[in-house]
Order: sequence, then structure tokens, then C-alpha cells
Amino acid sequence: MTELNFTNRDIISITDFTREEILFLCQKAKMMYDLEKSGQRYKLANELRNRSMAYLFYEPSTRTRTSHVTAMRELGGLSDGFSGTEGTAVTKKETIRDTIMMICANRFDVIVMRHPFDGSVQWAADVASIPVINGGDGKNEHPTQALLDVFTIYLLNNESLDGLNVGFGGDLSYGRTIRSLSLALSHFDNVTIRWAAEDFLGMPDDLVPLLESRGVTVVREESVEDVMAKVQFYYMTRPQLERMKGISQEDIIKMMQKYRIDLEKVKDFDVKLMHPLPVNSEVAEIDYRVFFDKCQVFFQQAENGILMRKALLYEMLKHDGYIQFSGQLNPALEQGNNRLQRISKENENEEKKFIDNIANGVVVDHLKPGSEQKIVADLNLINRDTGIIPANLPMAGKSLLKTDLFDFNERELKTIAEISPEPTINYIREGKVVDKFVYLLCRNSDCVTRVLNEDVPPQFYRVNGGGVRCRYCRKPYTIITRKATEEEKRSFLQSLPEGIDKV
Ligand code: CP
Repeated sequence: MTELNFTNRDIISITDFTREEILFLCQKAKMMYDLEKSGQRYKLANELRNRSMAYLFYEPSTRTRTSHVTAMRELGGLSDGFSGTEGTAVTKKETIRDTIMMICANRFDVIVMRHPFDGSVQWAADVASIPVINGGDGKNEHPTQALLDVFTIYLLNNESLDGLNVGFGGDLSYGRTIRSLSLALSHFDNVTIRWAAEDFLGMPDDLVPLLESRGVTVVREESVEDVMAKVQFYYMTRPQLERMKGISQEDIIKMMQKYRIDLEKVKDFDVKLMHPLPVNSEVAEIDYRVFFDKCQVFFQQAENGILMRKALLYEMLKHDGYIQFSGQLNPALEQGNNRLQRISKENENEEKKFIDNIANGVVVDHLKPGSEQKIVADLNLINRDTGIIPANLPMAGKSLLKTDLFDFNERELKTIAEISPEPTINYIREGKVVDKFVYLLCRNSDCVTRVLNEDVPPQFYRVNGGGVRCRYCRKPYTIITRKATEEEKRSFLQSLPEGIDKV
């Protein structure tokens, strides 16, 4: 086995892993498995002596947190942190950034974090001087779950991940495990994914073409039985009620009636039934009798989670050396690359056709018609010591806002872009436009960049092969402004860093 290096590596998305890295970690986890099954659990008991892991769980967890702690303990390391934010300064509105800085000051070697906002763990990793492991960020990713699921399949499939037929069921839309697992499987040859679920809980629109572009065959089947008949593994998931808006548990129970797993659905098939757990005992997406059936491998998965996390933490921390806390934030964190720079023409002043020119201030242009009053209200401009001229210009199909403020800060720009996406911001000094840009903000309302008081700078990156994605939640972004020229757009795209993911 060729050794690979995981030192100083953040574990944010399963898409950051290559096929070789996934196989390498499966082989290392198999070594942990062999030690465990041969009664040599503590053979590596001193390997991570004097190493420590901080667990920061802003959301509930049983398996992910305890299995990381167990993995550390069995390797001789220590763990500390919080499980739920009660009793922490998060209740006093401390930001992710400041919490992470404090954890680094407390001399931990690695952080495992779960948080409700998409992209929050990438932000934590940007701030931290030590490696960060994503224990689940919103509805986005859960990479170590995908690794342990893949490892479970690897063990049950003669240590191979090619040629698999895998079924998906339950909630494929709001869960993060389906995204991470299917992308992990997309590294391997001849993989077919079959699924059956209500439209509302079906495979996310962006995921299917992504998987297909990577050679995975994705087939929607009529029923759970149709899937069961054709797959080796059936991966069932819990409806993520906590992430659904305007849907009750009763609605979901009705929706899932045809799709829940009971003994009838598994009895005729030679299939291994997987579930990341927990099962919701009220929705009962898996009937309790199935828990006693030989088809289920849920608890094996959970144990494999300890072994995979042991392998991962060992590979990340086995080398000596630690980083000294500097107390300084990296200035690069401030450089949000989300301003599509426009080139202002000499004497350009199209607004003067409609309202008075201004000598010094900010003009917010190309707003959604009628949105200017909400911006005035939300920024409390009436009560600030500033001249304001909001204008709805129906003939021009837009609204406009002039102020004699010196500038808008990042939170104010985000507020404007929330109300009217991609506003054009003009800074005017002595009658001249000195800076003109379109302000881009991720459209995923659950993205950490959308949370004003977290002060995460919106940043984008260029995807290898085309397109733009948010650096934090990694959702695709399409530039909609018709005002920027092709040259300006091209120049903005060139200014973005290359893709950080291997997908
Ligand atoms: N599978 C999983 O992530 O479980 P927990 O929510 O208990 O961590």
C-alpha cells in the first residue's frame, strides 16, 4: 500500500478525496478492524499520546461525537469540547470565528465540528490554524459518515467498491448523507444508484446530473420493492424534519407510507439494509422488527464509524509537531472575492436623466423595481444623518438609491443583496465614480455567508470545467446581472481561485 499524507488536512467534503485516498483510508480502517477483532484494540494505545481533539457540536449527535472521542481515547489522545451550545459563549452571540480562535488558543491539535449552517465548517477551517473535520454542516455534507458507509460496503463486498448496485430511500432531499455517500461512490467504476421516494423527498436536482457526469447510472424506480430486487445494498434515511419548512410530521408519515421499510419489503431479497441512524421512532421509517433481521447492518456501520475515525485521526495526527497560537487572524479571511468589478466610463451618469446628480456618496443601481423602500427601511436610512433619494424608475425597469453616505459596510451590502440580488454599487467622490462593482451573494439562504453577524466574507471559486461555486456551501452560482459586459464577467471569473474540490 502506498502511504498517503493526511497531516494538516481539513476534512470538509467527500469531494476533496480522490479514489486512491478513499481506498487508502478503507485499508487503514480495515487494519483497525483486524486489531479490534483479534483482541488487540490497544496496540496503538500510545500513538496519539499528548494529542487532543476539540469537539464543537452546535447540533445534537450521538454517534459522530462519541465515535470521534472513542477513536481518540483508543489511540491514547484526549478530547474536550461542547455538545450543544448551552453553557457556552455561543449563547452570548459569540461568532464561529471567535470560538475557533479560542479553541486554537487552548492548544488542541484537531477540531471536529457540527453546525446547522451550510458551509460553516469550511469557514471554521479557514479561521483555524489546526485541521478541522466536518461532523455535518447543515444539509450540506457529512464526509466521515460517507467514509464509514463506504468502508462498511467495502467490508461486506470483498474489499471492492467497483460495480456496485446501491439503492437509496427515505429522505434524499434534505439529508446530507445521501449527497456525501453518492459522491464518494462516484469515484468508482460501474456504479448504479436506484431510488424510490416521493417527489418532495427525491434526489436533489443538482446531484443527479453531477453523478451522471461522473459515470454513475442513476435510475428512479416506482417502488421500494423494485429497488430491492436490483441492488446489493439499500441505504435508508431519516426524514430530516428539522430542515423542512412548513411540513408537519403527520405530512411526512403520510408521504412515507409506501416507502417505509418493514419485513415484507426485505423478506424476498438478498440485500444489506443500511441506515446512518438515528431512526425516527415516531415516523418509523424502518419498522422495529427489521432491527432484529439479519439484513440490517446499522449497528455494524456505527462501529465501523469508530474504526474509520480511528484510521483518519491516526493518519492526520501521527506525526509530531504542533502549531503555536499567534492570536492574529489571517488578513486573507477578509478578502471576499465576490465583487464583480465594473469599468465606469468617463462622464457616465445615466441617473441624471431621472434625478439629481450627487458629488459624494454611494449610488446603488439596478435594483429590483420597488425594492428601494425596503432597503431604506432595513438599513434604517431615514433615521441616519444622511441624504437619501430612493427612486423607482418603471421606464428603465429598475430602482435606484442615492445616499451621501461615505460607503456601506459588508453587513449593509449583504442586506441590500438579500433584498435585491446583484446590486451595482457606485462610490462617488467629487462627482466621479471611483469604484463600481456588482455585489454577489450566495443564493443558498442556509449558507453561512448569509448570516449577518457571523461576518463571513462571500467568496466564490471557479469550478474545473466551468461554472462558479460558493467557497463555503459549495452550491453553484450563476451570474444574473445583464449590466456587466462579457469582458467584465470574464475578468471576474479569472480573478477567482481554481476549484478546491476534486469533483
Ligand atoms: N449518523 C449520525 O451522524 O449520527 P449522529 O447524529 O448521532 O451523530
